Amino acid sequence: MLPQSVVSRIDELRQQLHAHAHSYYVLDEPSVPDAEYDRLFKELQQFEAQYPELLTPDSPTQRVGGKALDAFSSVRHKVPMLSIRTETDTEASGARNFDTRVRKELGLTDKDPPVQYVAELKFDGLAMSLRYENGVLVQAATRGDGETGEDVTQNIRTIGQIPLRLHPHPSPLPQAGEGDRFAVSPLNSLSPRERAGVRAYPIPSVLEVRGEVYMRRDDFEALNDRQRAKIAQGIKGEKTFVNPRNAAAGAVRQLDPNIAAQRPLSFFAYGLGEMTLPAGRRPVFETHFELLQALKSWGFPVAAQTECAQAAPELIAYHQRIGKMRDTLPFDIDGVVYKVNSLGLQKQLGFVTREPRWAVAHKYPAQEQLTTVIGIDVQVGRTGKLTPVAKLAPVFVGGVTVTNATLHNEDEARRKDVRVGDTVFVRRAGDVIPEVVSVVQGKRLPGAEMFTMPRVCPVCGSSAVREDDEADYRCTGGLFCGAQRKEAILHFAHRRAVEIDGLGDKLVEQMVDANIIRTLPDLYKLGLSALSALDRMAGKSAANLLAAIEASKQTTLPRFVFGLGIRHVGETTAKELARHFGELDAIMDASEEQLLTVSDVGPVVAKSLRTFFDQPHNREVVEQLRACGVTWEEGEPALVTQHALSGKTFVITGTLPGLSRDEAKDILEAHGAKVAGSVSKKTDYLLAGTDAGSKLDKAKELGITVLDEAAMLALVQG
Ligand code: IVH
Repeated sequence: MLPQSVVSRIDELRQQLHAHAHSYYVLDEPSVPDAEYDRLFKELQQFEAQYPELLTPDSPTQRVGGKALDAFSSVRHKVPMLSIRTETDTEASGARNFDTRVRKELGLTDKDPPVQYVAELKFDGLAMSLRYENGVLVQAATRGDGETGEDVTQNIRTIGQIPLRLHPHPSPLPQAGEGDRFAVSPLNSLSPRERAGVRAYPIPSVLEVRGEVYMRRDDFEALNDRQRAKIAQGIKGEKTFVNPRNAAAGAVRQLDPNIAAQRPLSFFAYGLGEMTLPAGRRPVFETHFELLQALKSWGFPVAAQTECAQAAPELIAYHQRIGKMRDTLPFDIDGVVYKVNSLGLQKQLGFVTREPRWAVAHKYPAQEQLTTVIGIDVQVGRTGKLTPVAKLAPVFVGGVTVTNATLHNEDEARRKDVRVGDTVFVRRAGDVIPEVVSVVQGKRLPGAEMFTMPRVCPVCGSSAVREDDEADYRCTGGLFCGAQRKEAILHFAHRRAVEIDGLGDKLVEQMVDANIIRTLPDLYKLGLSALSALDRMAGKSAANLLAAIEASKQTTLPRFVFGLGIRHVGETTAKELARHFGELDAIMDASEEQLLTVSDVGPVVAKSLRTFFDQPHNREVVEQLRACGVTWEEGEPALVTQHALSGKTFVITGTLPGLSRDEAKDILEAHGAKVAGSVSKKTDYLLAGTDAGSKLDKAKELGITVLDEAAMLALVQG
C-alpha cells in the first residue's frame, strides 16, 4: 500500500514544478531561484524512483529520455494541417486585396461594418500539432504533407515551453493595457464572452494545438558556437547550421531524443486542430482572438505581438510596424498573418484546395538567398585595415540588391571557407551589412582554392602584417598608401602633431578627392590657385591655410614622430623616443633591441616602429618632408637624464583654474611623469580641479594623493 502522504506530496511537487516551468519558459518571469526548482525536481525524482507505479508520462521529470528510434512512425491528422495563401504584394495592396476578397465572399457591401481580424507574426519554424487527451500531452506530429505527418513526440517533450499537462487553473490573463505580453489594439472588438471577462476555459477531453516550433536567434548562435567547438576538437559528423529554421528542423527530426534535448527549441501556439469538449459543454469561444487567450490560459506561449485589427488600413499599419521591428525580435519571422477573427465567419468562408479563405500570409522580403561568389577582393580601410570582401552575382535579399558581402578578416574567411565559384547563402537583415552565412559544400567546383590573405597591400604594395593577438592584417605603408591618405594627412595636421590650423576632415577629403594632395609632402607644395578651386576657400581662408601650413614647418621632434601616425606610437611614446634618441635618424635606424630600452616601448611598439621605417616608401616621405623645410631642433641623446617626477603616474580630472588639461599634461611630462587616463592602484597622484567626479572618489578610495593645480606646480618646481 502506498502511503497517502506520498501520493499527495508527489501531486503537489508536480503542480509546483509545472507552475514554475510555465513562469520560466512561457512568461519569462522565473518564480523561484534555479536552485529551488532543482531541489523540488530532485525530490520528485526520488519519490518516483522509490514508487515507480506512480510515474506518469506528464510528470515534469519525463521531458528527456527514451531510446533512439530507427524511424518515426506516421500520424494521420484527423483535421488536416493547412497552408496559407501568400501575398507578396506591397504593404498596402497585399492587405487591401485580402480584405476586399473576404468582403466579397461574405457578400458585404460598402454599407456593412468593417471585418474584424487578428494579425499575427508568421514564424519561420516548422508547424507542429500537439495532441492532448484529458489534459495530458500524448502526441506531437509534424505537418508532413498536411494529411500525414511524423510522430516526433519524444523530441517535442524536451521543449520547456510546451506543457506536458494542460493548466487546469488559468494563470491570470493580462487585459488590454496591462504590459505588452498580449497587446490589444484600441479598436479591438471583443466577443460578448470576452467582454464579460470569462477567463477560465474548461479543458477539452481532446485538444490538438497547432503552432510553430522554432529556435531563438541567441539559442541558434550558442548552438553553432558549441558545434564549432566540437568541429575544432575533431569530433566527426558534426556541422554548423545555416539558420535557426534549419537547426530547428534538424532537432525535431533527430532520432535520438537525448541529442534533440541539447538543441534549444521554443514554441508559439496559433491555432487549433481537433477538439472535443467534455460531455454537455458548448463551444467555449467564438473568435480566434479568444481561442488564443484560451491557449494562453492552458499554458501555451502566444506571441506578444498578436493584435486585433479591423479593415485594411489597420492590417497595413500592422505590417509596417512589425516590418520595422523585425530585426529586433529574438526570433526570425518571414511575414505576418491576417486571420478573420470570427470563427463563425471563418466557417462560412471555408477553403479552396488546402488554403483557408479566411487567412492570408503577407510576407516580407526574404533575408536569405542563394548566390555565387564571383571573386574575393581585399579592401583597404582608412586606417590600413585589410578586409576580404566576397563579390557576388547580384541577388535581391532583405529588400535590396546585394553584390558584396564582407568576410571581415582572415579567420572569418577561413572559418566560413568561402572560395571563388562557391554557391553561398547570403543574409541581409535590416540595415546590417550583408553577410555570407555559409557555403553549400555540395556545389563547390573542383579545384576551387582556399582563400589566403595577401601579404602585401593591394593598394600600395607595402607589406601587410598581422600582429599577434590581432584579427586584422594592416598595410604598413601608412604615409604612402592611397587608401590611408586622408587619415594620414589629418593625423599629421592634428593639433598635437605638427598642427596645421584650419585643416579639417572636410577640407582633406576635398583635397585628396580632387587629387591636389597625394602624400604629405604635397601639403608643402600647395599654392593659392590650387586652393582657391576648392569649396569655401575664398582668398582669405586660402591665405590663412597657407600661413598655417608654413607655420607648421617649424615643429618639434616628438610632434613630428607622433604625426607620422605609426601604429601604437602615441604622443607619450613619441616624446620618450625623442628624449631617448635625440634625433630622428637615430630613431629610424634603431634596432628592436635598442628600441626596447626606451621607457614606454614594449615589444609590440618596437616591432611596429621597425616595420614602419623598413618600408622604403615611408622613409622617402620623411625625407621629402625634411626637404620641404619641415624642421625641428635635434638634441643629444638623453639616455640617463632623471627628472623630478620620473616613474610617477598622474591622472588629471576636473577643470583646473589656470591651465588647460593639455598644458598640465605637457608640464608633467616635461618633468618625467606619465599621464594616464584612469585611476588605478598604479596611480601616484590625482591632479584634481573643480567638478571632479568619479575619478576623485576612486582616488580617495584607493588612498591616492590628490593635488590641486598649485600643489602640482610646487611639486614640479621641487
Ligand atoms: S495558421 C489555417 N499562423 O505558415 C492556416 N501559420 O503556410 C494554418 N505559420 O507551415 C496556419 N506562423 O507553420 C498560421 N501565425 C501563424 C503562423 C503560421 C507561421 C506557418 C505554418 C505553416 C505555414 C502556413
